[in-house]
Order: sequence, then C-alpha cells, then structure tokens
Amino acid sequence: MFGATGLLGKALIAAWKADAVAGLGSKDADIRDIEQVRAAVEHTRPEWVVNAAAYTDVDGCESNQALAFDVNWHAAVNVAQAAKDFGSRLLFLSTDYVFDGLATSPYQANDPRAPRSVYGRSKAHAEEEISRIFPDACIVRTSWLFGVGGKCFPDTILRLAPSRPEIDVVNDQRGSPTYAADLARAIIALCHAGASRIVHATNTGDCTWFEFAREIVRSAGLNTTIRPTTSERFVRPAERPKYSVLSSESLNRYKIFMPHWKDALREYVVARQAAEPGANPPRKTG
Ligand SMILES: NC(=O)c1ccc[n+]([C@@H]2O[C@H](COP(=O)([O-])OP(=O)(O)OC[C@H]3O[C@@H](n4cnc5c(N)ncnc54)[C@H](OP(=O)(O)O)[C@@H]3O)[C@@H](O)[C@H]2O)c1
Repeated sequence: MFGATGLLGKALIAAWKADAVAGLGSKDADIRDIEQVRAAVEHTRPEWVVNAAAYTDVDGCESNQALAFDVNWHAAVNVAQAAKDFGSRLLFLSTDYVFDGLATSPYQANDPRAPRSVYGRSKAHAEEEISRIFPDACIVRTSWLFGVGGKCFPDTILRLAPSRPEIDVVNDQRGSPTYAADLARAIIALCHAGASRIVHATNTGDCTWFEFAREIVRSAGLNTTIRPTTSERFVRPAERPKYSVLSSESLNRYKIFMPHWKDALREYVVARQAAEPGANPPRKTG
C-alpha cells in the first residue's frame, strides 16, 4: 500500500487484519520515481496494490500545479503500470472533486468528469489514464475524509471550538463526510470482492460544511455557535464543487454498505478522545 502514513493509510493499516500488508510512506518509496515504485511492488508482489498516496492540499495544488500533476497523475500512473507489470490488482483512491458540482442529485460512477480545480484535474487525468492502461483497476472515489491521527475538518473545528464563541462555516457546498475507518473497511471488502472499475465509497447521508460543523460541536457537547456563511464570503484558492454527493449504487452492487455520516462522526469523536485523552470528550447521551 502506498500512502500508508496518511489519514486513510493509517486507518487501512489498523483495519486490515486478515491479510499481510506492506504499508509504505513517501520515505519508503517516492511514487514519482518509477524505479522506486517498481522495486517496492516487485519486492512483495502483492495480490493488491492500494494507492492512497496523493498531494491532498487542494488549495496548495492551485499554486503548485507541477507537483499536483506529478504526484496525483504521473506518479499514480507509475503505480498502476508497476501493479500491472507484476501481476497485482490495483485499487486507486480518487475524489468527488473530479465533478463540477452542478448536479442536483447524487453523481453516478459513470457520470462525466468536469473538474474545477487543479487537484480535481490531476485526479481526473489519473483516472482516465489508469482506466486506459489497466481497465481492470478499481478506482474508488471518496469525499470529505475525516479520521483520527491527521488533519481533517472535525479535528480543526474541535480544536477551535473551545476558545471561540462563534465559528463561520460555509453553507453552500453539499457533500458526504466520510470516516476513514469506514472507508478502510469498504476498501478491504472491495479487494476481497475482486472489485474493478469506478466505485463511489462515502458515508451515507449528506450535509453542508455548516451542518457538519454544527453536528461536530453537538457531538462533542460544546456550546460554540456555528454560523452559516457563503463561499463568496469565504474565498479560497481552489474552487470547490457546490454539490458533490456520490451515489452509493456502485458500492452497494458489491453488497457493501457504509454507515450514516452522523453515526460515523459519533464513532470518530469517541476514537479521537481515546487516542488523545486531552481532546474534547464526547457528549453523554441517553
Ligand atoms: N482527504 C480528503 O478529504 C480526501 C477526499 C477525497 C479523496 N481523497 C483521496 O484519498 C486518498 C487518501 O487521502 P488522505 O487524506 O489519507 O491523504 P493524506 O493524509 O494527505 O496522506 C497522503 C499520503 O500520500 C503520501 N505521499 C504524498 N506524496 C508522495 C510521494 N511523492 N510518494 C509517496 N507517497 C506520497 C504521504 O506520505 P508521507 O506522509 O510519508 O509523506 C501520505 O502517506 C488520496 O488519494 C486522496 O486524494 C482524500
């Protein structure tokens, strides 16, 4: 697995108990170097190569297009080529940001790509080239990832909330938050099912970032007021899709079902507290 030191990678390592897993970070193999990738894959010749490595700083990608395209596109193709050459299956992680966000109902796996950001374009190019050179590959699109042990939206809100009476959060982008531990379980099940082609894997249900933030402070029993704002008032370098809910049909076809994001969030708040005892305790219910 490439990207083992990332948010999703850590969750995959923690969840993948039934099989032997070799997890690599960028210090073990820089996926931009085809020789390092080939050596790593040849060394273990795994049944599956999972590529969760990426340059995920969406705003950073706007000013660093060369790096974004190198890591998220060309290097992802290196990984796909090596997996194919050494007889492994490939599962590549992609994103809801390959869509333009103009839809009003959930995106299907075969809907046309129309990315609006450098990050989205880098991933869309990778998807296209990987599908061409390795049609049997499984491309798993996910969205709004959060998890223990890394920077993510709930962590930011929970760090800010205790010292802020109010936080403004955009209320005009809608998507599905996805808990890394749930996604890890889905990815493992997809590998065991021999999945191929594009699959959408997110927690079920959808919300805006404002609604997500409100639920985060509620779950942690905090009193901070979350106020809705707009993308126009909160301008960022990369344009985000206004609507990027992904249909779960492609995942459900494999009889894999993911929990609702609110249940996932509750699990996250408890797991974060256990991993970081100083963190905000979850709210007592019942
Ligand atoms: N985060 C989200 O909200 C989100 C949403 C949709 C899709 N995704 C996709 O889901 C996947 C996992 O995301 P994540 O949030 O877990 O990522 P992350 O926490 O940012 O971790 C990125 C991983 O990529 C590795 N990496 C970066 N550049 C590399 C290079 N040149 N060579 C080898 N490894 C390299 C990093 O290794 P080191 O740490 O060792 O440098 C790290 O393990 C990515 O494909 C991402 O595009 C994420």
